Formats: sequence, structure tokens, C-alpha cells
Amino acid sequence: MTSVTLKNLCKAYDDVLISNNINLVVKEGELVVFVGPSGCGKSTLLRCIAGLEDITSGDLYIGDQRMNDVEPSKRGVGMVFQSYALYPHLNLYDNMSFGLKLAKADKAEIEKRVSHTAEILQLGHLLERYPKMLSGGQRQRVAIGRTLVSEPNVFLLDEPLSNLDAALRVNMRSEITKLQRRLGCTMIYVTHDQVEAMTMADKIVVLDAGSVAQMGRPLELYHYPINRFVAGFIGSPKMNFISVKISEVEDNQVMVQLSSGETFWIQVEGETVNKGDRMSLGIRPEHLLNAQDAQVTIAGDVQMVEKLGNETQIYLHLDDADADVIFRAPDTITVEIGSKFHIGLTAHRCHLFHSDGRACRRLHREDGVDYDRMLEEM
Ligand SMILES: Nc1ncnc2c1ncn2[C@@H]1O[C@H](COP(=O)(O)OP(=O)(O)OP(=O)(O)O)[C@@H](O)[C@H]1O
Ligand SMILES: [Mg+2]
Repeated sequence: MTSVTLKNLCKAYDDVLISNNINLVVKEGELVVFVGPSGCGKSTLLRCIAGLEDITSGDLYIGDQRMNDVEPSKRGVGMVFQSYALYPHLNLYDNMSFGLKLAKADKAEIEKRVSHTAEILQLGHLLERYPKMLSGGQRQRVAIGRTLVSEPNVFLLDEPLSNLDAALRVNMRSEITKLQRRLGCTMIYVTHDQVEAMTMADKIVVLDAGSVAQMGRPLELYHYPINRFVAGFIGSPKMNFISVKISEVEDNQVMVQLSSGETFWIQVEGETVNKGDRMSLGIRPEHLLNAQDAQVTIAGDVQMVEKLGNETQIYLHLDDADADVIFRAPDTITVEIGSKFHIGLTAHRCHLFHSDGRACRRLHREDGVDYDRMLEEM
């Protein structure tokens, strides 16, 4: 049993609370990704689980055993540090085999595991080198390798791919996921990379200033963010927000009014919204439409255009709504900076947030996808 359970876990340095009443369960064999802005306490939580920091209050269980006071080496946990922490006086082979030698593993077994891991991480030709003779990306892979060879029950990885080039990152991402599936180990993985979080995670935990804002399957967080913070954090480029006023309320729908005066209905649980409320309308850049395809159109001034080849990101200022938004068009399109550009909205793609940030629950989205069933199946 190697699940990881945090119950009302708090961590404070002196009287500054860093992790605030964290409750979460990482099931055996699950890959859970922690995301959140810099400084929100991701590394601190990993260090508490690994036993490198004392837990101020609350409980940590690994499997059935309460681990608060168990030494790090007895927790069955392996951690890849954000800062690598390699031994400078040992070459790459010795860095990777250090833990196994300490555990008095069989020599042939050590050799097999190190060479296999080095091959996966494309480090086989560098085994004689010392850390100072490696690039940042190579050091990072040694740090991963050192933890992988020890095959712990619980892996904690703190931004393990942040220094790799794009191609290697994609490659390592799938290698780590495959390895995790093959070993059936429990993994907690911290990243700032949206694609890593969405593609690797069984579940994502979004942390906001030391608290869990939302925990769920990647698509659940994308389609049903619980609040404006999560909505803005999951997805890249981030969700656009436009201030609106509620001009009518019915049971299952509300009428939103843009600053231009234009109105349209959005299907949400209406009873929690009042006529006259000021709310925030959220729509993702990839869900904005060309004006001719949409229910509602808004004109904007083009402020910046980013051509990525496979898509074009157009930064617009919407005069009528007094908001800046990003429109994401597939393919390469030509747009002049300073020109007028018309974009469109459809109601089923919109999210609505109360002034305190809470999301309104949406009911139906007429895009042919049964989200409720999809969530049940996940
Ligand atoms: N030893 C320490 N003493 C006091 N405060 C600390 C200590 N270590 C971390 N902190 C503070 O705790 C907060 C959380 O830090 P942490 O390293 O967990 O953030 P993080 O989410 O991992 O950020 P990043 O994405 O930048 O790595 C920060 O405000 C940091 O300054
Ligand atoms: Mg960190």
C-alpha cells in the first residue's frame, strides 16, 4: 500500500503559514501533478512528504502508516530536487548508483539498473563525467536517473524537466509516464508546464497561496474550473475575462449584457445569480470565433500579433467591453496591428464567475459533447 494521504496538513516557517490545511489523497499507482504560481508552496509540500521539512500540524500517511516522525530514508520515497543536488566529487555513474550501493544492492543489479536508466535518459555516453562537466539539462537528467534507479514506492519530482530543450522534454515526458505505468509506483510531479500537467496527470492539484484551489482530472479542470483562479491558471494562453452585467435571470439561464449593451443568454444554474449582478465572463482564446460564425460579435483593436506557424494569436483591446483578450486562430493569418478585428462568442463556450471568483455551474453545452457522461467515465 503506497498511497499518500495528507490530512489537514499545515506547514509554517516561524509564524508564516506556507501550506494551509491541505487535504488530499494520491492513490496507489496514481500520477498526480501539482501546479500553481511560483511561491505557492509546491516544493514545500514535496519536502514535507519526503521528510526534509517538519510538518507543523496535521497528518501525513504513506500507505497506512503515519509518517510525520519517520526518518526520510525509511519512508520509501525518492525525490528529484528542483536544484538537482548532485554530488560534485562523484562521476555520473557513481552519482546514480550511490543510493543502491548504500543499500548494499548486488553489483550486477546496480550495473543493470544504472545502464538501463542511463539509456532511457540518453546519458549512456557520459557515465564517466563529473557534474561540472555536464550541461544543465544533462545534470537534470542525472538527478532523475539517481532517483529512478532506486525504484522507490513513491516518486516525488520537482520540475524535473525544466532545463531541457523542447524535443528532449517531450521525449522525457513520455519516458517518465511509461516508466511510472510500468513500475506501478505512486508519483507526485511538480511542473509549470501546462502540456506536461494535462498529458501526464491522472489528477491535477492546483495550489493557490498554500491552499488546494481544486483537484481533479485534467479535462475536469479545463471544462469545469471551480473558480476564476483555476480558470485562469489551467490553459495557455490563459482564459479571457470580460466584465458583464446580469440583465435577466431564469431558472436555468441568465442574460448577460456586455458594455456595448448587447445581450445573450447563458445556461447556468440561475438561482444563485441576481438581476443586476456584476459578473466576470470567461472565454478561452481557442473558443473565440470568427465573427461570421458566432452568436454575438465584438469589435477590437489589434495590439499585437504572434504568428506561431500552426496558429496565430491576436491580442485585442475591446473598446466596448474595456477588456484585453487573446484570440487564437488556427493556421497563419495576416492581420495588421492597429486595424479593427471582429471576434465572436457563443454562449455554450462561456464561463461565468461571481465577483468573489466562484464559478457558476454551467448546465448544457451544445457542442455535441456530453460532459457529464465524460466526467462520470473518468
Ligand atoms: N526555509 C524557508 N524559510 C522560510 N520561508 C521559506 C523557506 N522555504 C520556502 N519558503 C517560502 O515558502 C513559500 C513557498 O515556497 P516553495 O519553494 O514551496 O514554492 P514553490 O511553489 O515551489 O515555488 P516555485 O514554483 O518558484 O518553485 C515561498 O514564499 C518561500 O519563500
Ligand atoms: Mg518549487
